[in-house]
Amino acid sequence: MSGCFISFEGVEGVGKSTQLARLEDTLLARGLDVVVTREPGGTPLAEQIRALVLHNRSEPMPDAGELMLMFAARAVHTENLIRPALARGAIVLCDRYTDATYAYQGGGRGIDDALIDPLATLAQRGLWPALTVLLDAPVAPSLARARARTGKTDRIEGEAVAFFERVRARYLQRAADEPERIKVVDATGSRDEVGARIDAWVRPLLPS
Ligand code: TMP
Repeated sequence: MSGCFISFEGVEGVGKSTQLARLEDTLLARGLDVVVTREPGGTPLAEQIRALVLHNRSEPMPDAGELMLMFAARAVHTENLIRPALARGAIVLCDRYTDATYAYQGGGRGIDDALIDPLATLAQRGLWPALTVLLDAPVAPSLARARARTGKTDRIEGEAVAFFERVRARYLQRAADEPERIKVVDATGSRDEVGARIDAWVRPLLPS
């Protein structure tokens, strides 16, 4: 596999989409083959699974159902979009990947890592990002920004601040456990200030 797989993580409203778009522009300006995608989703089928797992409905979604739908979407996305893009040499910028499952379903919902690990093995068949950019900032202002932006909340966005505090803590724990892959980037500051911090981690992975 010759391309480069980079994921972006962080709680809602921390600026992932803004920074993904900025990096996409930078890479396109260099004439690189860039694919921007997201999870859950990224292909028509995986986007249908996204709608299943994120939309609010009257029937409750058990945590186990949420976990397995995240991985169902991931398996589809990984096989149908990410692997083919990497095989042709593209740079894949993915808005969330499996670290989000450990953070939200593990840290947020309390599902044991020992239950998540085999699903990750099954869905990803060994594929992990070369670099994961963890955008980190205090939860409350980030959440307020996300909620103000969309005007309505999906099933997970509607959780209490304490849920997102647990998500953030788990993300930071994963970064501490895997410092080579997961880089914590201070997400406070202007678009370009944060972008420059990200560029410093991405640059060594790019063709010279
Ligand atoms: P987003 O596109 O706004 O980031 O929304 C995706 C939501 O799904 C967000 O609340 C995080 C959540 N999520 C999980 O709970 N587990 C996962 O594995 C992924 C990829 C996302």
